[in-house]
Amino acid sequence: MTDQNIVWHEASVTKEERQQRSGAKSCVLWFTGLSGSGKSTLANAINLELFRRNLAGYVLDGDNVRHGLNADLGFSDEDRVENIRRIGEVSKLFVDAGVIVSTAFISPFREDRHLVRERFKEEEFIEIYVECPLHACEERDVKGLYKKAREGTIPNFTGISSPYEPPTQPEITINTDVLSVEEGVLKIVQYLDQHNYIS
Ligand code: PPS
Repeated sequence: MTDQNIVWHEASVTKEERQQRSGAKSCVLWFTGLSGSGKSTLANAINLELFRRNLAGYVLDGDNVRHGLNADLGFSDEDRVENIRRIGEVSKLFVDAGVIVSTAFISPFREDRHLVRERFKEEEFIEIYVECPLHACEERDVKGLYKKAREGTIPNFTGISSPYEPPTQPEITINTDVLSVEEGVLKIVQYLDQHNYIS
């Protein structure tokens, strides 16, 4: 609940002015998908592509943010809701700063992603479904977490003992069991290009 005595302060430099300088229409690329589906890989790859084009970008990654800003949060439903709410707010600051921010969080609940979307103008929120079948993520098991989840040593593990609700109308879907990282990045770049976020 916002204190009634706190008054919004208008910035002297506008988002539009910052965007002009940064050379891109700022937005959030909201990657969502199972653990091990390739969210971080894709988010970092697209960010590298933006960097090469001299465009302002930044990656917010679940594992990293949980070391700092969200170090107090675990993986209960309640904590995941708060995790995503905070990331939504941080993303909003980045978009206001004229940056294309790529967020790589499982963000398993449709309602939470919807609430984040609602904090943005329609064109500022681009949901990217990083689609990969559970069995493929589990076969990759890059961090060995699926094995531990199956053994029961990690509770509430997404896809095993905690739900994942896939997006129904994402702006972009990347099937990472079919496409290479380069093909995935190309698909996102084409979207950004066609919709005039970058040129
Ligand atoms: S969430 O659901 O959006 O709040 O999760 P997120 O902040 O993206 O964190 C997911 C990463 O945390 C590790 N991890 C777990 N994931 C899912 N369930 C449980 N119980 C869990 N415990 C730890 C895991 O490395 C996730 O990283 P990714 O990159 O998704 O594999």
